[in-house]
Order: sequence, then C-alpha cells, then structure tokens
Amino acid sequence: MTKDWGLKDLLGLERLSAANIEAILDAAASFKNSPPKSPLAGRVVAFLFSEPSTRTRSSFEAAARRLGAEVLGFSAAGSSLAKGETLLDTMLNLEAIGVTHFIVRHERSGVLEDLAPRVKACVINAGDGAHEHPTQALLDLLTLRERWGSFKGRKVLILGDIRHSRVARSNLFALKKLGAKVVFCGPTPLVPDDFAALGAAIEHDVDKALKGADAVNVLRLQLERMEQGFVPSLADYALAYQLTPARAALMKPDAPVLHPGPMNRGVEISSEVADGPRSAILDQVANGVLARMAVLALCERARV
Ligand code: CP
Repeated sequence: MTKDWGLKDLLGLERLSAANIEAILDAAASFKNSPPKSPLAGRVVAFLFSEPSTRTRSSFEAAARRLGAEVLGFSAAGSSLAKGETLLDTMLNLEAIGVTHFIVRHERSGVLEDLAPRVKACVINAGDGAHEHPTQALLDLLTLRERWGSFKGRKVLILGDIRHSRVARSNLFALKKLGAKVVFCGPTPLVPDDFAALGAAIEHDVDKALKGADAVNVLRLQLERMEQGFVPSLADYALAYQLTPARAALMKPDAPVLHPGPMNRGVEISSEVADGPRSAILDQVANGVLARMAVLALCERARV
C-alpha cells in the first residue's frame, strides 16, 4: 500500500488528488488476491446511519470484519439521537467507549465537515444528502478499471436523476481527475444545464448521449428526495429515458452498464439490461467490500 497516505477521514472525492484515488484503487485491487493481515485488529467500527442502506452498510461491515475490527452493535434509530442528542455528542460518547472508526450516512449535505476534525476517530462518509458518496464512486471506478486498465479518453455517461445524486457528484469528481470525460443525461428538471459548471457535459437526448459511450452508470429516480413535478410520471420517464436493450446497443460493444442500486426495475432500467450480458451491477457490489477495506485500512494509517 502507498506510503504517503495522510488522511484520517474520507469525506468526499472532490478534494482528493488523482494519486490519492489511485492509491485507494490499487489497495482495493491488491486485496482481491491477497487480503491484508488484520490491520484493524483491536479497532472498533460504529455505524451512524440516519437513512436506509443495504449495500453500503453490509459491505462496510464485511470489510471491517475482514480487516479484523470489532463492529459495534449501534443503531441510530434506537439511540439517544432520537431524543435530540447531537451527532457530535453521540460520536464523542461512542469514542469514549472505544470506537475508532465512524461510518456515517446522513440526510444533510456536508454534515461531516465540522464533525470530523473534532473526533480522533476516522470518519468515513457513507452518503451525505445530495453531496457525496465517495466509496460508491470508488467501487464504480474499481469495476471500470478492472475492464479498462486506464480511464484516459473514456466517455462515461451518468444517466438519470443527477439533481439529487451524491453518486453522480462523487463519480464526476473522481472520473475527471483520472482523465475520463463525463456526460450527464436526463430531463432538464433532473439534469439542470447549470450542472455543467461541475465539469460534466450535459445532454438531454438519451440516444445521442449513449452513442459511442464506453460505459453508462444508471441512477434511480430518488422519489424520496423529490418535491412534486420533476417528472410528469414514472411511465413518461421510462418511455423517454429507460435504459432498454435497444438503447444499450448504441454504446460501444461490451460497454458495461452500472447501477449503484437500489434499482427501480422498469423505470430507469429494464430487467433485460439489468440482468443482461453488459451488466456489471453485481461486480460493483462485490467490489464494494474491497474498496471499503482499502478506505478503512488507509484511513487507519493516518489516525493518531
Ligand atoms: N448504493 C447504495 O448506497 O446502496 P444502499 O443505499 O443500499 O447502501
């Protein structure tokens, strides 16, 4: 693993260097064939999740255990957070109990920026509002790098509800640093033209966007974050933007289809594509454990 890693926390990818991102991907790839020998033995990992999760929570838990850590049985829902205790007080109290790593999912964008420097433990962002989901993007990149080797000159299309997506933002930041071109596609209310300021090309015509793409990352409609009126109806959205086999065929041959999950089958993606030969969706999930092992192991090295 890299010698010059100095980050206790992983709050996002926007401020990481290309070398930082490569270091995480290299460590994750190396763990596939040779898992490290318990670098987190004696450490305690706690999950502070105020939003639901299947993949992120389960794979972080598997990653922590494979690195030798103890996982604290703590549930935000049944905790004194529900009585109004602040997130910082909760973290300080859990730290006093011995927690060395916090994995946090929260509905508020940027919530960890002020908290992470106030605890000694590592703080890892497992998704904050519409801001970032760094480990999701890292596992997405790991999945693409296994196929391509390098990102230079690749065109990656991110299709769907970009407005509400922390996955889109983290992917954009990382892919651009590593030399890929990123295109955002979806209807204007979900892909506002001013998102071009983030550094993506914007295309509202899905067939044009798919043509010649090296990969597509399909995002679900985040109905729980939407006020009324972003799409006329799910059926209209599906007709105009669903990734069907005919649309997927517009991409380069063998271009993979990614989806961070959970999928709305029949809305943003058809089951034929989700379960078809281009699908890399379960590879992503498997790589999630490796990417999260790498993040936990690297952050641990910078913890004092
Ligand atoms: N991709 C993702 O974050 O999935 P979960 O919400 O199930 O963790």
